[in-house]
Amino acid sequence: MAESSVGQGVKVDAEAQRRFRNALAMFATGVAVITAPREEGVPVGITVASFNSVSLDPPLVLFSVDRRCLSLGDLRTARCYAVNVLAEAQQDISNRFARANSGKWEGIDFGDGEGDSHVLLPDALATFECEPYAQHDGGDHVIFIGRVVRHQARQDGRPLIFFGGNYRALEDSPTAA
Ligand SMILES: Cc1cc2nc3c(=O)[nH]c(=O)nc-3n(C[C@H](O)[C@H](O)[C@H](O)COP(=O)(O)O)c2cc1C
Repeated sequence: MAESSVGQGVKVDAEAQRRFRNALAMFATGVAVITAPREEGVPVGITVASFNSVSLDPPLVLFSVDRRCLSLGDLRTARCYAVNVLAEAQQDISNRFARANSGKWEGIDFGDGEGDSHVLLPDALATFECEPYAQHDGGDHVIFIGRVVRHQARQDGRPLIFFGGNYRALEDSPTAA
């Protein structure tokens, strides 16, 4: 196994950063799109792999957003947001919401999409509607913690998986936990 250290407070060079990213990519995740209403115009929508559960009581979830994302300012001030967990068949949706300035909502019905109304993507595997709970400094990312006010899940679906920088599909049947 290749070993690397990432020095604290030391400027990380490009090679060390690449190896760090590669190591992080060994953690398989699902893929979600964070959506939030804007005061005006089309809603925020951004693909993330950083979604995770935090707490059952109170019900909290988290995700982190790169400080370079164009949506960050609107997400930071949003009165509510939603996590839409993508299904295997939604790779195109993942790619669409991972491209800045790209007509992300073209052809998608986002309902009212303004102010206080949660925006949900059709056909998601699960959705978590959140009210903002906390935001934390996460280095070059901002960590959002949301308090879940409503959630739904499909029982039949299969998840879109992200691993090693590529999309994957579940192939195995479940093994005992
Ligand atoms: C599978 C996948 C996972 C991603 N995960 C994250 C993430 O967790 N946090 C993040 O800030 N960006 C993540 N991105 C990149 C953003 O989706 C991308 O920067 C997007 O263009 C941001 O949109 P915006 O600049 O319009 O806000 C991911 C992209 C892909 C394809």
